[in-house]
Amino acid sequence: MMLPTLTGSRLVLRPPRPDDAIPLARYLNDFGVSGNLARVPFPYSLADAKAWLRTRQPDTAPDDANFCIERPGQGYIGHVGFHPGPQGPIIGYWLGRPFWGQGFMREAAQLCLDWFFETTAAPAVYSGVFHFNQASLAIQRRLGFTETGRSWLLCLARGVEVEHIDTKLTLGMWKARSI
Ligand SMILES: CC(C)(COP(=O)(O)OP(=O)(O)OC[C@H]1O[C@@H](n2cnc3c(N)ncnc32)[C@H](O)[C@@H]1OP(=O)(O)O)[C@@H](O)C(=O)NCCC(=O)NCCS
Repeated sequence: MMLPTLTGSRLVLRPPRPDDAIPLARYLNDFGVSGNLARVPFPYSLADAKAWLRTRQPDTAPDDANFCIERPGQGYIGHVGFHPGPQGPIIGYWLGRPFWGQGFMREAAQLCLDWFFETTAAPAVYSGVFHFNQASLAIQRRLGFTETGRSWLLCLARGVEVEHIDTKLTLGMWKARSI
């Protein structure tokens, strides 16, 4: 399906474009960001950003959908998207460091999850955090994710497996949420 643009009160989510490479590389080439993510290497170059953007198509399955998070007036500030996992769709996200601490990710994740559950028949979305990532865990809890266990997940930026708190958001929890 063609990815839509999703509009919230402070943010807009839109499909990636080739000219996103410069801000993408700037914000991801930060160990404070990539060290919290499983699949982003560090350092992260402009060539890495361009190569990844070439893999993104506007016509894509919802469980492979990626959205650039834009703040009107400030441009591209971060990213939220899905990829297929062994149990079902996995959601992942990050914000560039200048944009932390203002509650933007809760709004972005909420927009994205509303779209995902409306568009698909998925009974649940999976996620989790490396064990030290309390800010991200707080966001997931507020969205209705619950902890399902622990695992060891390779963190590309660190080059080692890191203990991971696994989480799951069911469609029922999403509908019942109070945020
Ligand atoms: C994690 C990240 C997305 C947070 O986004 P954000 O919008 O800046 O989140 P905020 O700082 O506004 O905090 C969100 C919540 O976490 C809480 N929080 C923040 N830091 C915390 C900490 N150290 N301990 C406990 N709670 C914390 C906030 O109080 C807030 O909770 P509330 O909504 O109940 O008030 C952002 O820091 C980021 O991109 N980090 C690097 C990449 C990353 O970690 N991605 C997620 C991988 S799972």
